[in-house]
Amino acid sequence: MPARIAPSLLAADFAYLADEVARVEPHVDLLHVDVMDGHFVPNLSFGMPVIESLRRTTALYFDCHLMVSNPISLFDSLASAGANLVTVHIEVHPDPTVAAGAAAGEGLDFGLVLSPPTPFEAVTPYVHMCDLLLVMSVNPGFGGQAFIPDVLGKVEAARKFIDSEGLSADIEVDGGMNPDTARLARDAGADVIVAGTAIFGDPDPVAAVGRLRAAVDGDG
Ligand code: DX5
Ligand code: ZN
Repeated sequence: MPARIAPSLLAADFAYLADEVARVEPHVDLLHVDVMDGHFVPNLSFGMPVIESLRRTTALYFDCHLMVSNPISLFDSLASAGANLVTVHIEVHPDPTVAAGAAAGEGLDFGLVLSPPTPFEAVTPYVHMCDLLLVMSVNPGFGGQAFIPDVLGKVEAARKFIDSEGLSADIEVDGGMNPDTARLARDAGADVIVAGTAIFGDPDPVAAVGRLRAAVDGDG
């Protein structure tokens, strides 16, 4: 199955969000939505009113990456706003059983996120609860950072574990993705590539998506 491409809304022009998303919608597979609370990470991004407004303009699947200290408290309003999947940092909920149950109760798909310093072993007992496993390749909080190559070993470990256990979680890599780093992530076992700056920071976001696709699933 070809890799899926998820543009990260964080890098879009916030004054023209609907237009930015509409432009790439026919060419991408899902939308990555970074929610930040100024506490788990030092930055703020956007919340429910923005997600709800955007939901009315696009049919894309909303993959909501929750960089917040109390994610479960947001599930209800995120579901009402039109989120499809929520991912929770394992650093916030070292035992995410309650979070996974709460997401299911709201009809949300569920995933776990590993920040770069967190070893894969932190999530092994819980991968069976996940629709998605997000391996961050930059430290959470800001777009436009450089890819951390050390995380490739973690992507490989996740791929090996998911395949050998017969689990269904997709592996997503987020941070510093460009055609070169996305190829490395894909070769390590990624199913979903998140790219902010490389897509919305490009003068031609559609061509940028094409270059990412060619890099991850081309022969080269
Ligand atoms: C960082 C976010 C990323 C970010 C990626 O905290 O989780 O999704 O938008 O941005 P780029 O692709 O610019 O590294
Ligand atoms: Zn993200």
